[in-house]
Amino acid sequence: MRIDITRFRLSPLPAVGISRLARYPKNVGRCTADPKATTMPRRRKIYEGKAKVLFEGPEPGTLVQHFKDDATAFNNEKHGIITGKGVLNNRISEYLMMRLAEAGVPTHFVRRLNMREQLVREVEIIPVEVVVRNIAAGSICKRFGLEEGSVLPRSIVEYYYKSDDLGDPLISEEHITAFGWAAPPEIDDMLSLSLRINDFLLGLFLGVGLRLVDFKLEYGRLYEDDQMRVVLADEITPDGCRLWDIETNEKMDKDRFRRDLGGVAEAYQEVARRLGITPEASQQDVKGPVLIQ
Ligand code: TMP
Repeated sequence: MRIDITRFRLSPLPAVGISRLARYPKNVGRCTADPKATTMPRRRKIYEGKAKVLFEGPEPGTLVQHFKDDATAFNNEKHGIITGKGVLNNRISEYLMMRLAEAGVPTHFVRRLNMREQLVREVEIIPVEVVVRNIAAGSICKRFGLEEGSVLPRSIVEYYYKSDDLGDPLISEEHITAFGWAAPPEIDDMLSLSLRINDFLLGLFLGVGLRLVDFKLEYGRLYEDDQMRVVLADEITPDGCRLWDIETNEKMDKDRFRRDLGGVAEAYQEVARRLGITPEASQQDVKGPVLIQ
């Protein structure tokens, strides 16, 4: 069945063949009926990750990105369900991707569809996770014996190979080019975009009393006719960022889950509230037109 794309208020889409859907390697198949069927309608599942599911979109070249409540840490060793996390992350990522697009950063985001889902452009994910760090926390502390919270001499960009089986190992540009994960101009694009995103998000979060300690980005190749562009993909949410309250240094991100600090959903809710995008405020979006008085 073809769906009238004008319903989704998309900007003109590239003519991308559905065949590229096959490039998502894992878990390709049909959704099985399960108790979550109310939130996960039956349609073709392209890929299921730890916190998200990608479904076939309404038009070739699009996908529906569905945010789950699942939380994992330490490469899937720890698993939990944080009720409401998916809804909050959908909203937070929508907001940040839209602000970044306004600032000139190309992204895969098209528009939010409902409480848990957003329409995105189908991209070929580059298997490199880009981490930007402003303050020492997490793995860099262990690696170099740094004290958590120490300000880094400058923002540091790191690359990790995206492989659950290998536990996302730290890699260099040499590995990326030698193994053909990305070409040198693609690495240049990822690096310059990541630094721009860092500058922009540092200011954005500072404005709402949050310190952006570090974060992880993923990029994809977007094919438009004969052209290919590297665009920001995946998500930007407290699952993949460290955010500390400016005054108290309280952790407002997935470290609350990793370290059993409790109050995970409350912290994400507070991030959304400070950004002015609580899901309550957005309920009207899914109910229908709002009367303007
Ligand atoms: P790290 O200190 O554990 O290396 O994490 C750095 C940042 O990257 C942190 O904000 C969390 C994020 N991250 C992910 O989003 N996914 C991952 O698999 C890992 C290891 C880190």
